[in-house]
Amino acid sequence: GVNEEKRLEYRYLDLRTQRMRNNLLLRHKTIKLIRDFLDERDFLEIETPILTKSTPEGARDYVVPSRLQQGSFYALPQSPQQYKQLLMISGIEKYFQIARCFRDEDTRGDRQPEFTQMDLEMSFVDEEEIMKLNEELLIKIATTLFPNKKIQEIPFPRISYKEAMEKYGTDKPDLRQDKNDPNLLAFCWIVDFPFFEKTDNNSWTFTHNPFSKPKEEHMDWLMEKKSIENILTTQYDVALNGYEIGGGSIRNHNPEALKKAFEIMGYENERIEKNFSHMLEALSFGAPPHGGIAWGLERLLMILQNEESIREVMAFPKTGDGRDLMMKAPSPIDEKQLKELKIKIDKK
Ligand code: AMO
Repeated sequence: GVNEEKRLEYRYLDLRTQRMRNNLLLRHKTIKLIRDFLDERDFLEIETPILTKSTPEGARDYVVPSRLQQGSFYALPQSPQQYKQLLMISGIEKYFQIARCFRDEDTRGDRQPEFTQMDLEMSFVDEEEIMKLNEELLIKIATTLFPNKKIQEIPFPRISYKEAMEKYGTDKPDLRQDKNDPNLLAFCWIVDFPFFEKTDNNSWTFTHNPFSKPKEEHMDWLMEKKSIENILTTQYDVALNGYEIGGGSIRNHNPEALKKAFEIMGYENERIEKNFSHMLEALSFGAPPHGGIAWGLERLLMILQNEESIREVMAFPKTGDGRDLMMKAPSPIDEKQLKELKIKIDKK
């Protein structure tokens, strides 16, 4: 076949192929189905900022220098997590967004520096309701737009993190009975994740999302900061054929309890104040109980389209080392632009 780098360099020509055209068409149809489905259920699609502040989702941020506030930087969102929670505090009971996310991490077949999430959040719900709604939407996408596909098991099986690790050695098991059947879809939910895990330097970090709520029966342990290794979170991941295609949780909407989670991770008061005071303050005005989920839209489409890489379901993806070969980005900027930003490049 044609060299991969050439395909990316001349992407506009590559997109002329039937394969790529079809991938773009089904991406469009999938997004339209999602919008219609959620619209019928009274969700509001709301756009959230791209120039924002760092969110701790576990990856490195892309940063943008500010000209007007010299020495300060915006961060591109790793996800709309904080905004969607703030919208719940605003009284938006059902939010969704086809949201662009940015993460500066090493890329691979199922990972790109910018990618799209189907992101949603709801007030006054529990894990059951969110999982049920998402299951219904995933089934509808597969059955209406990908009629050749066969879903192995409905309702999707649920497996605890512990069982998944013991039985399959991974928290995104490939449950297909026949691994050679490209049209088989084996969805499953993974639940009962530990909230915290030990870091290399023997402190605690969150396994998924610091804003998650622990399981009700483990709330006391969080408040008393004891039995930390046994605290389970309300996190649920959805896996498909060996890929994690989504994840979410019920959120910790009590500011005192959220602060405990930060304290367990060893964040000093000053750091909590600097990074999270806006969230803690917002929650203190009274937040409805809420929770949500986000899917990696490209991962889902990659599997539905029998592709090997999420690049094939994106119009203009980047290489493994984060370059756009067609636009030749990233690229140096003019001396004048650097001067305006008061930025000096260390050429060494
Ligand atoms: P999480 O970080 O698990 O959760 O992301 C949700 C889903 O997004 C996909 N994903 C990616 N896809 C392509 N390239 C990447 N670099 C990449 N990183 C993640 C995965 C993953 O399951 N705010 C929370 C969601 C929530 O709790 O509501 C979040 O972003 O399929």
